[in-house]
Amino acid sequence: MKFFADTADTAEIADLAATGLLDGVTTNPSLIAKSGRDFMEVTKEICGLTDGPVSAEVVALDHETMMKEAEVLRRIADNVCIKVPLTIDGLKTCRALTGEGTMVNVTLCFSANQALLAAKAGATYVSPFLGRHDDNGFDGLSLIEDIRLIYDNYLFETQILAASIRHPVHVLECARIGADVGTMPPKVIKALANHVLTDKGIEGFMADWAKTGQSIL
Ligand code: E4P
Repeated sequence: MKFFADTADTAEIADLAATGLLDGVTTNPSLIAKSGRDFMEVTKEICGLTDGPVSAEVVALDHETMMKEAEVLRRIADNVCIKVPLTIDGLKTCRALTGEGTMVNVTLCFSANQALLAAKAGATYVSPFLGRHDDNGFDGLSLIEDIRLIYDNYLFETQILAASIRHPVHVLECARIGADVGTMPPKVIKALANHVLTDKGIEGFMADWAKTGQSIL
């Protein structure tokens, strides 16, 4: 399972990249607004921090303008992945862009049928929004399960990018189901390393090591 950082905060991305745990980045208009930075400038900087795909989202709603925006965005760097909404115009744009060899992430997926359409449009990634599903009383994990089943039934190559991941249990369940990628805030990726028994074990080993009076260096 690949881990993408769901943020436009370049300091957080650089910090995570240094751990070797970062496989790519996803941004959206809300994250760009939160960063307070120029879209083009911050996206270019992010693309330089990872070799993996960096999702940059179009903001037009019609196919023609989406294509024009995608043309601008894909010139930023080779690892830009164009993010389009799961609408008929977004799917049309997806088909056109993937036909030209551009990576596409079809975002805002909330049903298995939508994911089926994204795969048929040749999407590189489909992004089911797990947390937002749960927030609205739906079962986000069942959605990921259904998409996995459907994609496996037809051997679709579209990768399931579990998005809107909120906590480590979401990550665990997505890994069990077989989501190809999880995108989440960097703090969630780091939280995966936490365990109370690891902390307790370190504390015990440190205390016993101090008793030996030795040093390794
Ligand atoms: C994915 O690409 C989205 O940017 C993201 O995961 C949305 O997450 P949120 O529901 O926490 O805003």
